[in-house]
Amino acid sequence: MIDLLTLHKQFLAPHIKPGDQVADFTMGNGHDTLWLCRAVGEKGHVWAFDIQKQAVNSTRALLESELGYVNYDLILASHADAGKYVAGKIKAGVFNLGYLPGGDKSITTLRSSTLPAVRGAVEMLAPDGIVLIAVYPGHEEGKLEGEALSEMLAGYSRFQYCVSCFRLLNSPTSPFFYMVESK
Ligand SMILES: C[S@@+](CC[C@H](N)C(=O)[O-])C[C@H]1O[C@@H](n2cnc3c(N)ncnc32)[C@H](O)[C@@H]1O
Repeated sequence: MIDLLTLHKQFLAPHIKPGDQVADFTMGNGHDTLWLCRAVGEKGHVWAFDIQKQAVNSTRALLESELGYVNYDLILASHADAGKYVAGKIKAGVFNLGYLPGGDKSITTLRSSTLPAVRGAVEMLAPDGIVLIAVYPGHEEGKLEGEALSEMLAGYSRFQYCVSCFRLLNSPTSPFFYMVESK
């Protein structure tokens, strides 16, 4: 059976090299942030965002225990405000939508901030960059986020971006992801 989180790293990896700048727009418990910190190495930089202090704290603890260097900024703010913090262009941006695993399920990503945040992330992309968005349609807001993103992303010019979707056709409530790759 396909594991979404393992698979999406395989799409991200070819776009990232040591020394790059990248962003994790939904920090959560920090697993994607850690992966990104390792992928860009000591000379790269990762900006990571979450609106919950609990997420920032658990991510900080994970990174301090796993990394021997600090190549990250953990920012307690909405990803819709990421443009105020990220300096220059990024090679990759990761969104893992939904709620904090093991946390308060009522605090979830919402279309009202997800759409401007994804739009902003795509604008931050350097050439040959990628924004990857994991969507969880098994809950109502996740389903609506997925539909709204599909409509928005389908409008991007194919001369500037390659926009794709990876989805299990015979399991419509399973998680899936969108990718926007810049040319
Ligand atoms: C599915 S979790 C992310 C999991 C994470 N990538 C990991 O590896 O552990 C989604 C996270 O998005 C956060 N979130 C919700 N709304 C947000 C917003 N407007 N800006 C940034 N993060 C947000 C939630 O607090 C939650 O921690």
